[in-house]
Amino acid sequence: MARFLVTGAAGFIGSHLVEALRAAGHDVIGVDRRPGADVVGDLLTLDLAPLLDGVEYVVHLAGQPGVRESWSQFPAYLAGNLQTTQRLLESLRDRPLKKFVLASTSSVYGEAPMPAREDGPAMPVSPYGLTKLAAEKLCDLYGRTSGIPWVALRYFTVYGPRQRPDMAFSRWFNAALDGEPIQIYGDGSQLRDFTYVADAVTATQRAALNPVVGVPINVGGGSAVTVREAIRLIAAITGRPIRIRQLPPAPGDMRETRADTERLWREVGFRPSTPLEEGLWQQYRWHLAQRA
Ligand code: NAD
Ligand code: UGA
Repeated sequence: MARFLVTGAAGFIGSHLVEALRAAGHDVIGVDRRPGADVVGDLLTLDLAPLLDGVEYVVHLAGQPGVRESWSQFPAYLAGNLQTTQRLLESLRDRPLKKFVLASTSSVYGEAPMPAREDGPAMPVSPYGLTKLAAEKLCDLYGRTSGIPWVALRYFTVYGPRQRPDMAFSRWFNAALDGEPIQIYGDGSQLRDFTYVADAVTATQRAALNPVVGVPINVGGGSAVTVREAIRLIAAITGRPIRIRQLPPAPGDMRETRADTERLWREVGFRPSTPLEEGLWQQYRWHLAQRA
């Protein structure tokens, strides 16, 4: 049994991670600025020292997510992704920490060739991707200068129950259930390596507890499909006719995300395996339950 501090604990991935860690018998303090966490407060101002006493593992999921909004709200992305990380790392100097796990993203790759490898180029095409890449570099800096043992998990488009309402599957299930048109950016040929949330959580738990340090690691679902293919699955699952409204391509959206998961497999001994259709059914049941 280990002692974890999880930031972003009231969020989509964070709430699942806290549940899984507790189910495995770990001692968890969840922090978030939203209600639902054990400690409700802003990481930019919270007194962190007392929260970190006795903590062995920090999983830093709090941040400002969302690719397409990051052009117009850059200060929020700097604060959420970079300043929160800097504050935590600074407070962790000289503490006997076993691991600092940063939530990074496939968005660091941008125009890099796919399938993306962690030792290949990172060429973000959104301010969001850039702030997460900078947060990874900050971990590396504190790792080299203060010996903080870090890993950065580059999650690839995570979905499942409680998915953020701004993300594609949430929007599309809600649109299908409301009889509204589904909006797609561009022609829908963009490809995403969708990752089921329980797989992302397992990878996170294992990356924390395994000896691997000082590197980014891809966490990709292994089922890369186009937006159009994903919509066909949603139509089949909901059994509703789907009307599509095509919008212009969104600046900052990558053409394609596909993860090379060799490092995850080698260092963490795990690879996501939930088939997209199965994960989508789980998310659909959650939307139905929310409405019941
Ligand atoms: P989310 O928005 O549901 O969760 C993030 C949580 O962080 C929120 O509850 C928010 O209130 C909290 N938070 C933000 N700033 C804070 C602050 N200053 N102080 C305290 N709490 C703060 O997002 P999510 O989808 O669960 O993503 C979790 C992390 O994983 C994020 O860092 C995101 O960038 C990253 N990520 C997510 C995905 C994905 O597909 N969902 C993919 C790649 C990376
Ligand atoms: C997601 C998360 O929102 C980011 O926080 C995360 O960092 C990123 O994954 C990542 O993997 O790095 P995104 O891939 O844009 O970003 O996820 P969705 O919002 O689920 O979009 C998936 C695809 O559907 C994108 O190609 C997007 O263009 C498209 N989309 C989205 C639409 O066509 N219509 C919509 O209404 C929403």
